[in-house]
Parts: sequence; structure tokens; C-alpha cells
Amino acid sequence: MTEIEKKKSRAPVPKDWTYAPAPESRDVVKLRERYGLFIGGTWVEPTESYETISPATEETLATVGQGTKEDVDRAVAAARDAYANGWSSLPGSERAKYLFRIARILQERSREFAVLESLNGGKPIKESRDVDLPLAAAHFFYYAGWADKLEYAFPNRRPKAVGVAGQIIPWNFPLLMLAWKLAPALACGNTVVLKPAETTPLTALLFCDVLRQAELPPGVVNIVTGDGRTGAALVDHPDVDKIAFTGSTEVGKAIQRQLAGTGKKLTLELGGKAANIVFDDCALDQAVEGIVNGIYFNQGHVCCAGSRLFAQESIYEPLVDKLKKRLETLRVGDPLDKNTDVGAINSAMQLERIKELVEAGKEEGADIYQPPCRLPEKGYWFAPTVFTNVAQSYRIAQEEIFGPVLSVLTFRTPEEAVEKANNTPYGLSAGVWTEKGSRILWMAQRLRAGVVWANTFNRFDPTSPFGGYKESGFGREGGRHGLEPYLRFEE
Ligand code: NAI
Ligand code: MG
Repeated sequence: MTEIEKKKSRAPVPKDWTYAPAPESRDVVKLRERYGLFIGGTWVEPTESYETISPATEETLATVGQGTKEDVDRAVAAARDAYANGWSSLPGSERAKYLFRIARILQERSREFAVLESLNGGKPIKESRDVDLPLAAAHFFYYAGWADKLEYAFPNRRPKAVGVAGQIIPWNFPLLMLAWKLAPALACGNTVVLKPAETTPLTALLFCDVLRQAELPPGVVNIVTGDGRTGAALVDHPDVDKIAFTGSTEVGKAIQRQLAGTGKKLTLELGGKAANIVFDDCALDQAVEGIVNGIYFNQGHVCCAGSRLFAQESIYEPLVDKLKKRLETLRVGDPLDKNTDVGAINSAMQLERIKELVEAGKEEGADIYQPPCRLPEKGYWFAPTVFTNVAQSYRIAQEEIFGPVLSVLTFRTPEEAVEKANNTPYGLSAGVWTEKGSRILWMAQRLRAGVVWANTFNRFDPTSPFGGYKESGFGREGGRHGLEPYLRFEE
């Protein structure tokens, strides 16, 4: 038999190359029907509660507490007690042991946490499994390392813990944001009251079991679920020494006003409208991957998402062609399916906001492109979207959409790219794609953004500080810089 005959005799080439479903098992997660508030190391029965759902199916997953002002009061008292009676005077090396334990337990239980994160938040399992969980554990490992070296991080400055920290986190990276907040706070000797976002409380509640396993002393970490009212009560509490907030610019501004003159320390990590700038000398296919990762990762629910693509005019057409082709291969659907690239939109409210801005884009005159894809009937979904023919003044070029929607703009010279990229009230991140190293440095110097990625995007590491300029907030999380907001210095 000749080679060609051999090939012919094999099974016919399948006509349909779509992927078979590959769902991750839900069995690893044991959900309770109801969750209380985690205060002083025990579960406290809430007076009010609400149901938390899966945004992919709208099924109810559990009933959780809506923390009241009194609950916040109790949690702050528990945190104060734990601070005064042991935690703050523990040697750094002892605090480090707890953090190392938490990091290791998160690694051991990572599959369980990843499944729950995808279930409650709608993000693809491959992202929660390969990004959120490893990074969350890495943050605890990293700050565990600093706990007994604070004097070396800030030589001659005698660092001391601040006291009780109130931390309010969003729904786009629920467990990762918890890790970003808790790890440096605990490493520096503070105690914490943390409020998860109302749509994604479940991984934070499961995390309480990690704290139990790690035998963290009661009251060092308290978790009070609830919506913005619970958050506002925490901000308002007179016995909280520091507030760390990640969320919308609108709420961030309100918090800053509320805290003005109180002497409480504050860090804000708010919205963004990042420029992803592609020069004509870049590796085009890699840039396309970076653009896709920049805006469709986590359904675009990313404060540092590369939501404004600036393409140099000379490569505009091939770039947009390649991008549209690539979009056709993105698989939208079940977050628990290992082949899914784009999962569910986090909430009905967020879906409304995305739809409103996309409508505004169409009305203002931009051209919309969405690849053919069938969206599930139940749940909250939005197809990956590209707008071309976008003017700088359009709302889709100005406002944070926080969804899988990209606006494409153009430029001719590096100077023009910088000017357009900086033409935003935000300044969280930016991306530069070019083969020329000197141009990367030239751009990075001029872009008013906390993070500038070169020939990559959305890359995170606990050793690297993250934070904004202008309306994207102030203060840094990650790295040695991330310790500073949780310390005061006795000069
Ligand atoms: P949000 O800012 O209202 O929610 C973030 C967190 O703040 C949640 O835990 C929420 O319960 C809490 N919160 C709300 N009002 C509060 C108040 N008055 N005092 C204290 N805490 C309060 O954000 P939302 O409404 O979920 O999303 C609206 C827009 O904000 C999104 O479309 C997106 O553009 C942006 N956003 C940005 C995030 C980021 O990572 N920078 C994260 C979430 C949203
Ligand atoms: Mg809100």
C-alpha cells in the first residue's frame, strides 16, 4: 500500500471541528445552603440576607448575609480586640508562618476554589485555574516573606502596623483581590474587616475555612458580606484606621470625600481605559494575541483592560483583519467548560451597562463587529465586540465599559500615540507593541499610567507594584510598595 492509499483508508476527516463539551466537575465544591458572617473566628447569624447566583445560569447557589451597621460594628470590635491582644505584638516571623500556611492551603485546594470562582462569578475555569488561584497563593507567599523583614524594606524608619484595616473589594477577581488586600495587611501586623462584592461572596466565605485550617487567631480576619451599604458602614466606622478600596471611580470619589479630614489612611484602585498601542514594526500575530488577551480576558471585567486599541495607520488594515479572524475562534459559553475563552457577564446590572455603552457607540457612528456566535439562552452574555471608526470623543473611547468591547483608534507618530493615549481621565495601565527597545522606553516615560506592558499585556506578579494615576486612584498594591499603606513610621 502506498503512503497515499494508507491515508485514504483511515477514518474520514470529521466535518465538524467544534469542540465537544469538557466541563470541570462541580463535585469538588461543597456549598452550604446559607452562610453567616465570619466575625471573631465564628459564624454569626445575619439579620438580613440575600441570594447569590451563578451568572451563567441564574441558578441560586446560596443565601448569604447582608451585613448591617451593627454587624460591621461587631466585626471591627473583633478586629480591634485581635489587634490589641496578640496579633500586632507577634514577631514577624510568627505572622509569616500563618501566611505561608494560607498560601500552601490555597494551592492544595486550588481546584475547589477555581470551580467556585467560575461558578459564582462567570469567569472561564481556565482563567480561574491558571491565573486567579496561582496568583492568589503567590501573593500570600510573597508577603509572608516580607513579614519579618519590614525593617529592611524601610531602613531607619521603624515601621509599625496601622491597626484595623477595612477592605472593600470588587467582583471581577474576587479571591485574587482578597489576596491582594489581606496578604500585605497581615504581613504588616494589621487586623482586617473585609467586605466582598455583593455578586461574588462565595470564595471569600470558603476562604474562612482556609483561615480555620491555618489556625489564624480569631478576629484577625473578619469577613462581612453585603452590598454598598455594608461597605459604606465600614468606611464610616470610627475605629477603622485604614480603608483600602477597589471598585468604581464613582464610589472611590465618594469614599475620598467621606474620609477627608478623618486622618484615616486610604488607598483607591479605581477604573481604567487603557491604551494598547501597536506600532507597525511589531510582531503582528503576537500583538493580535496580546490585544485579545488585553480586552477579552475575564470578559473585559478588568480595570487595566486594554480597551482602547491604537493602531499605527500603516498597519491598520492587516491588524484589524487578523483581529476579526481571531475573534471568530473565541469560544463563548459555559464558564466551567475547559475550552471556554469568554464566560458569562458577572451580573444583570453589568450587562445593562455594557449594552448601554455599545448602543451609544453605534449611535455616535462607530462601526460594530461581532463574530458569529451562539449565546446561551439563560444567564448574562455578551459577544466579543470590536468597534472601528471610533472618534476620541465617543463615549466608547472615553468611558470604562468593563466588558468584552474594544474600541480601535489610529495614530501616525509616536508623539501622536502618546498624546491620544494620555487623553483620558484614567491612568492605570498601557501596552506598547514594537520591536524597538528604545521606543518602548521612550513611550513608557511619557505614558501617564501606573503599569506599562511591553509586547505583552495583563501580566501580573506579586513582586510588581500595581496602581493608578489621576482618576484611576492612588496607592500601590504588590511589591515592596504594597507594604507602605499598611504601615506607619515612627521616625
Ligand atoms: P462599585 O464600586 O459599586 O463596587 C465595588 C465594591 O464597592 C463592592 O464591594 C460594593 O459593594 C462596594 N460599594 C458600593 N458602594 C459603596 C459605598 N458607597 N461605600 C463603600 N463601598 C461601596 O462598582 P459596581 O457598581 O459593581 O460597578 C460599576 C462600574 O465600576 C463597573 O461597570 C466598572 O466600570 C467599575 N468597576 C471597576 C472595578 C475595578 O477593578 N477598578 C471593579 C468593579 C467595578
Ligand atoms: Mg455600584
